[in-house]
Amino acid sequence: MPKYQAPRGTRDLLPAEMRTWHDLEALGRELAGLYGYQPIETPLFEDAAVFERAIGTATDVVEKELFRVSSPGGDADRWALRPEATAGVARAYVQHGMQTLPQPVRFSTFGTMFRYDRPQAGRYRQFWQWNVEAIGDTGPAVDAEIIELGLRFLRRAGVSEVEVHLNSIGDGACRPAYVAALVEYLRRFEGTLPELERSRLATNPLRVLDSKDSRMAPILASAPVITDFLCDACREHYQSLQAHLERLEIVPRQAPHLVRGLDYYTRTTFEYFRPGHEGQQSALGGGGRYDGLLELLGAKPTPGIGLALGIDRIAGALGDRNGAAAAAAATRPVAVVVGADPTGTDLRLRMATDLRAAGVAAGADLAQRKLARQLENAARDGAHFAVVIGDELTAGQVQLRDLQAGTQRLVNVAELARELLRAHAGHRHGES
Ligand code: HAM
Repeated sequence: MPKYQAPRGTRDLLPAEMRTWHDLEALGRELAGLYGYQPIETPLFEDAAVFERAIGTATDVVEKELFRVSSPGGDADRWALRPEATAGVARAYVQHGMQTLPQPVRFSTFGTMFRYDRPQAGRYRQFWQWNVEAIGDTGPAVDAEIIELGLRFLRRAGVSEVEVHLNSIGDGACRPAYVAALVEYLRRFEGTLPELERSRLATNPLRVLDSKDSRMAPILASAPVITDFLCDACREHYQSLQAHLERLEIVPRQAPHLVRGLDYYTRTTFEYFRPGHEGQQSALGGGGRYDGLLELLGAKPTPGIGLALGIDRIAGALGDRNGAAAAAAATRPVAVVVGADPTGTDLRLRMATDLRAAGVAAGADLAQRKLARQLENAARDGAHFAVVIGDELTAGQVQLRDLQAGTQRLVNVAELARELLRAHAGHRHGES
């Protein structure tokens, strides 16, 4: 085994897999354009306080999973790699005074996140998300827009069956009564609660509901549900959201324990699953409303909602559909420039460069090997044509060999690029 390996919990995305990544990124860009979500990029690291304030200190993401970064000049642990995108986007919205723009401001972003989690299937320490956020609208119509957008992404990506799990976790007005009821219920099991859950009971009881500990499942099965505690405003919001979804022909599954792992959520929370794959590591994405988050980061009270889809998990659900063959096809050259003189690499490189400048996907055999080997390699690379440089070059001509048809003819160098594009386009047209 080689001495140096990708760090635990990370992996290399090799060319075969990159095809899926590029497709999913392009899909995100297309849908963001259709729905009016503008692109944004925020730094891969932020002041750790941004995540602590936004996500909450008594959460797994901040307490156990934050990759803290020290700067060389001291400042130990002042920074952290982003575990998610929402906090950074919200910070940018506040920093750039976007409250003065017409609301809501819609953002989209695609990129890597970092969580120092225990690596396992579907759970990486570096992973990719596609995020959308709509900041400055109380909903519930925009909640439905975002839930439908996530569903559309998953369907367009090719995930055949997807189910939306939906909940409302109330707000500052009604949640305290629910939390009190939950605490009272959990206290009955205090002696048997795992250690982390016992401490969460004191610091952040809602987090116990998304415990990753399997011993908690039977206890939580009969815990009180927050939807029984919603105040009138939250109940109306939730009912109206469901009516909007119904009009979009989306029938969510009620998930009264779905609180999600981040503290900033209010009211709407949701996740996407494939039926039969509902485990902790299986959500293809999720999101929710965060009406208190912007204020925590220094803005005037500003509502918001967003979602993130897990690209690694979507790629996993799609399997090897795009696979190595398709990836290779995408980079297959139209032509490879070869030559009778093995040492004539300068001529071959020059001609390939000219062809590329003219828009032809061209390769050149730059190793000094015999013509027969050069032709073999061109065919193996899947090239349609070989451009053979020989004595005819003194007359401004080269042999154009169709590697698939096995035919060959002389072409003027001045017309080579046009000729290749024409012949290749005609061939592809004939294929379809
Ligand atoms: P999240 O549920 O923490 O939400 O992550 C969203 C999705 O990212 C998950 O459903 C999963 O597919 C993927 N994911 C999370 N952690 C990992 C991991 N360790 N390895 C692989 N995939 C992972 C958020 O991040 C929120 N910022 C979503 C949001 C946006 N809420 C409002 N706006």
